[in-house]
Formats: sequence, C-alpha cells, structure tokens
Amino acid sequence: MEEHHTIAFIGAGNIAGSLIGGLIADHYPEKKVWATGLSLDRLNYLRESFHINTTSHNREAARQADILIFAVQPTTLKLVITELKDILREKKPLVISVVTGVSSATISKWAEDPELSIVRCMCNTPALLRCGTTGLYANPAVSSKQHALAESILRTIGVILWLEEEEKLNTITAISGSGPAYFFLMMETISECAHEMGLTEEEAQLLTVNTALGAARMALESGKDIRTLRHQVTSPGGTTEQAIHVLEEGGIRDLFFKALNAARKRAIEISHLLG
Ligand SMILES: NC(=O)c1ccc[n+]([C@@H]2O[C@H](COP(=O)([O-])OP(=O)(O)OC[C@H]3O[C@@H](n4cnc5c(N)ncnc54)[C@H](OP(=O)(O)O)[C@@H]3O)[C@@H](O)[C@H]2O)c1
Repeated sequence: MEEHHTIAFIGAGNIAGSLIGGLIADHYPEKKVWATGLSLDRLNYLRESFHINTTSHNREAARQADILIFAVQPTTLKLVITELKDILREKKPLVISVVTGVSSATISKWAEDPELSIVRCMCNTPALLRCGTTGLYANPAVSSKQHALAESILRTIGVILWLEEEEKLNTITAISGSGPAYFFLMMETISECAHEMGLTEEEAQLLTVNTALGAARMALESGKDIRTLRHQVTSPGGTTEQAIHVLEEGGIRDLFFKALNAARKRAIEISHLLG
C-alpha cells in the first residue's frame, strides 16, 4: 500500500483485531488506524498491542477516516450507521463492511446516501489466524482506486475473491463462511472412529488433523485439481477404494449438495430479515 489513508474500525472485536494485526504486520502506520468499541479493556488491549488510536466514540473515529470499516454484529449496524450518517455524507469515505448478511443497498438506505462507496465482505473464522477466505463485492460507486485499497486491506487476513454479483455472497457464506464447520465435523467423525479402533484420543486427533492439513496443502500446492488428487490416492482394489465406495453408496455427494443449499437458503433468509 503506497498511500496511507486513515482507517477507522467501528467495532473492535475478533475480525477487526485480526485485520488490525494484519495491517500493522504489513507496516501500516499505527497512527493512521483508529478502532472503536464498547469495552475499554478491549480498546486498551488493541492500543497497547498495536499502538493504534482507540476511542469509545464512533463519531470521533469516523471524522478522521478516509476508510471506514464496519465490524460490528449485524443487529448493531443500523444503530451505528444512523449515528454516523451525517459524517458519511460529508466525508464520503470508502465503507468496508464485514458484517454478515446486510446488503450494500441496505447500508446505503440506512445512510440515506445512494452514492456511498461500499465494499461488502464475507469472511470466515480462520481469518483470526490470517488464513481466511473472503468474498468481496464492490457496489457501482466504488472507484478502481478504492477497489485496490479494499483489496490490500482484506488480503492481510488471507485469500480474497472478488464477485461481480452481490447475491453470490450468499453462496460464499454457504461454502467458506460456514465451511470450517463442515471440515470440523468430518475431522470429528474420523477422529472418533480412530479412537473406537483403538487409538488414544490424542493420537486420533493428531492423525486426523495432520492428514486434513496435508490434503489441503496438496490441493493448494500441487497444481493438480482435487479430483485428480483423489484418483491418485485411490488405487484399484486398495483400502481407499473400499472406503470411498462406502461413502459414495451412502450418498455423500447428495448430502453435501443438500447441506450447502440449505446454508445458502438460510443466508438469503437472514439477509432479508436484516434488510
Ligand atoms: N468472527 C468471524 O469469524 C466472522 C466471520 C464472518 C463474518 N463475521 C462478521 O463480522 C462482524 C464482526 O464479527 P466479530 O466476530 O469481530 O464480532 P465481535 O467480536 O462480537 O465484535 C463486535 C465489536 O463491535 C463492538 N460494538 C458493539 N456495539 C458497538 C457500537 N454501538 N459501536 C461500536 N462498536 C460496537 C463490540 O464491542 P464490545 O465487545 O465492547 O461490546 C465488539 O468490539 C459480524 O457482523 C460477523 O457476523 C465474523
């Protein structure tokens, strides 16, 4: 990032903390970063850890900001935007929202400013380790410069994917937003099975988690597609083939299809409720 705009985080919880950590690790000037929140302990922690500016007054931070990042819970967002809408109209910052389920149209409506530049993001929990997967959508008011700025900020918590259509954020919610839980469920099941087969719980967890990590790294780093990798470890007549056959017979693909569609449907419902 060449230019250092002032960034204000409205809400200083998990995701904001992770983004602040990422920005500071990338040598973003501390004094160009503000964070607000309700808990003084949390604000003190962020100020002492990262030497950024903190305040419990959203308006004080927003007045400084060229980039305003909303990182509050969905039910708090309307309150916060209402509190800041005159500053938003006057300063015209780039608004980045990591808030789940609130559309850019709803943010514009609450801010009473159809011209507001908004980048909406759907991230996931591994963002806390800066290993997240984030879908991004920019509304038509976002300039190419603002686009690049949003990208450079969100990259500090992992991999990003720009979307042309905002509705696709509901799919991102179903795939990578909720996704860590699907992999946890699979690891939980395999680990329980390993324990039943005679390994200790610690041994079962180590084998399961490290195998998942190894498989994910192969999928990321080998340059091969996932289907090819699976075929390569499924020798005809071998052990893996037996297990895959049982999973296919049990309808694993159909089950995942239904599960992911159910998650996407719920994301759409929640989005309508919040709007
Ligand atoms: N965590 C994830 O992995 C994840 C993944 C995907 C999406 N998201 C979305 O990202 C957003 C933030 O998530 P999070 O996990 O970072 O939430 P969080 O840890 O609960 O943080 C929310 C922050 O907002 C602050 N806050 C509450 N009311 C406020 C107000 N009126 N003005 C300013 N700040 C206020 C809270 O302060 P106090 O703590 O002092 O009350 C807290 O610092 C949510 O909308 C969530 O859905 C999170």
